[in-house]
Amino acid sequence: MKDFTYYAPTEVAFGAHSEQRIGKLVAKYGGTKVLIHYGGQSAERSGLLGVVREQLTAAGIAYVELGGVVPNPRVSKVREGIEICRREGVDFILAVGGGSVIDSSKAIAFGFGYEGDVWDFFLGKATAGECLPLATVLTIPAAGSEMSDGCVVTNEEGWHKRGYSTNKVRCKFAIMNPERTYTLPPYQTACGIVDIMMHTMERYFSHEDEMSLTDNIAEAILRTVLDWGPVVMREPENYRARAQIMWAGSLAHNDLTGCGTIGDWATHHLEHELSAIFDVAHGAGLAAVWGSWARYVKNEDISRFVRFAVNVMGVENDFVDPERTALKGIEKMEEFYRSIGMPTSIPELIGRPVTEEEILQMADKCCRQDTHTEGNFKVLYRKEMEDVYRLANK
Ligand code: NZQ
Ligand code: ZN
Repeated sequence: MKDFTYYAPTEVAFGAHSEQRIGKLVAKYGGTKVLIHYGGQSAERSGLLGVVREQLTAAGIAYVELGGVVPNPRVSKVREGIEICRREGVDFILAVGGGSVIDSSKAIAFGFGYEGDVWDFFLGKATAGECLPLATVLTIPAAGSEMSDGCVVTNEEGWHKRGYSTNKVRCKFAIMNPERTYTLPPYQTACGIVDIMMHTMERYFSHEDEMSLTDNIAEAILRTVLDWGPVVMREPENYRARAQIMWAGSLAHNDLTGCGTIGDWATHHLEHELSAIFDVAHGAGLAAVWGSWARYVKNEDISRFVRFAVNVMGVENDFVDPERTALKGIEKMEEFYRSIGMPTSIPELIGRPVTEEEILQMADKCCRQDTHTEGNFKVLYRKEMEDVYRLANK
């Protein structure tokens, strides 16, 4: 088990009445002029934005608004947000939405105190200094950005999707009302389920020994999502089920399942190139690639895939043929993805196979022109990245 630092400073206000605490929490963390940042239409339509405005007004806190964040949030919107915050004297950002809105808010938060262009952070040319404090009212359990240190933004010039991480933009608080997720379209609910599982699995597939507590927590999160995922798909207004999934989403990505281990993250970064070019939902992209990655890397440590198959997917252990057990686990995971309407290949994801030229382009971007590798369970260079894309293209 590796040495680690576990840092999860976000105050979580969870439950059906949690929105009543917005005003007090913003005041507690020093907000006097808030930027309410949100996405397309869902938060306005559901009445959530109305509640947020009322809460701030009742607490005597001024605010300005910036909506229009799209899934796979764009750097142009971030620049607009930075400009508004400077002009209006904003001292706190409230992200009302999902991962895209939170990530856009995080980038505004660290871009605010930086003189150059905010994209520099994503190119590794800048590190966060003074940041605006931020918090979220979460509407979709998926990305886990409400408790993570990460932020993923897309630059429309060249369609590059890149991440930047810093503890300085972890949310001060997260309001999580499972009722607010009732309005999610089934496809988005399913994408969220995949992303939650993948955040756990990226950390679980590791070569580290003696991680029994971390492994057990990870397996419990995965089994919880396997149990309750189908329930939310069937009964979108089942509070108990929505609550399980929502809490799993935060625990899957607040580093709890990464204590003592090194994550893999190859599936995530292979997916980011897909959503950068084809603008697909992140969770669906992960489902389309994971099975191919798993088959490609499984023999690096077959016992890990056997453990996953038995403890998570409920496969009977074939002690004579571990590879058979491992493959059954992968197949069962893919069956689960299909059962909630998720793709398990690139053609299912985008409606056609990608061309060989597109594969070469995605791999070239992913390995940053041979200056970067992906994965730890198996290290992937350009050729291996191309191989996984080709496998997923069948
Ligand atoms: O824009 P609106 O109208 O709000 O609609 C959104 C959007 O179309 C809709 N939605 C959200 N809550 C809703 C709702 N519709 C009805 N009712 C509700 N309650 O859902 C759509 C997707 O929203 P988005 O915020 O894009 O989803 P998600 O939370 O999955 O975020 C995806 C982004 O997060 C990044 C992904 O790459 C992607 O860009 N990630 C961020 C991470 C992080 N910061 O730690 C880690 C992840 O691995 C991931 O990479
Ligand atoms: Zn993810």
